[in-house]
Amino acid sequence: MKVADKVAIVTGGGNGIGSALAVKLARHDARVVVADINVSAADAVARAINAERPGGAIAAGADVADTAQIRRVITLAQSGFGPVDLYFANAGITGAAGLQVSEKEWDRSFDVNVRAHVRAAQLLIPGWIERGEGYFISTASAAGLLTQLGSATYAVTKHAAVGFAEWLNITYGDQGVRVSCLCPMGVNTKLLCEGEQSGDRLGDLATRAVTTAGEVLEPADVADSVLTAIDEERFLILPHPGVLEMYRQKGADYDRWLSGMRRYQRNLLEEA
Ligand SMILES: NC(=O)c1ccc[n+]([C@@H]2O[C@H](COP(=O)([O-])OP(=O)(O)OC[C@H]3O[C@@H](n4cnc5c(N)ncnc54)[C@H](O)[C@@H]3O)[C@@H](O)[C@H]2O)c1
Repeated sequence: MKVADKVAIVTGGGNGIGSALAVKLARHDARVVVADINVSAADAVARAINAERPGGAIAAGADVADTAQIRRVITLAQSGFGPVDLYFANAGITGAAGLQVSEKEWDRSFDVNVRAHVRAAQLLIPGWIERGEGYFISTASAAGLLTQLGSATYAVTKHAAVGFAEWLNITYGDQGVRVSCLCPMGVNTKLLCEGEQSGDRLGDLATRAVTTAGEVLEPADVADSVLTAIDEERFLILPHPGVLEMYRQKGADYDRWLSGMRRYQRNLLEEA
């Protein structure tokens, strides 16, 4: 899909990957609703875009864990710019690390990292089928293909996000709905830094696993990979090309991959 003149919503658009996506989309002549639970961060990104491209962005404060708030963002996009063409389900949280995570924390991780995608798809896909076109871009993670050492909430919810994106692609792909799934390893954002400061053994393990597994990319580079994939209408977006080989190794010999991951975890824990 060409993004020029299209209407896009980017959740988690106030920082990191979402903010880089919003800026790049606007530079490619899309009009963007920058949605974030942190309304002042969304405002700052929208203001920066409008300084470059007047009328290019609208800010929206919204918690994607709440269907009514997602609906409000979609309505705002429609009234400000017109029907939504692209939806970037990008807002995400690391969640609590380890096994002893409360029901409330599991719910929050599922709400933000998975159910938010389901809710947005439920609201948008019927209209996209009618129009014969629409693009859903899920920000999952390499953790959704491989795993996340230290954090069950992140590993599990990101696998679920990949599973949902695959399902959407298969179910609605023949009706004009495009779906891509972004699965990066480390990206230099607030989310990664928060992990570093967690002070918790497994939280620290999670961060070190991400930062040592491969290069930590800049959000702008990740956004470039996403826009290229959208242009090519390619499902899997891997800004770190090495993830594909790791994913192949996992599929080729699961037990060997698991013992390699245990070894990697042991080494990281010993180094700590
Ligand atoms: N940074 C990485 O290393 C990395 C790697 C793989 C995947 N990801 C994924 O990329 C996505 C973006 O993360 P990032 O690294 O840019 O982090 P970030 O913390 O820089 O940005 C995330 C944004 O989402 C917003 N947000 C959080 N909860 C929200 C909610 N309930 N409703 C609306 N907005 C909410 C935050 O306010 C923040 O502005 C996430 O889904 C994350 O899991 C990040």
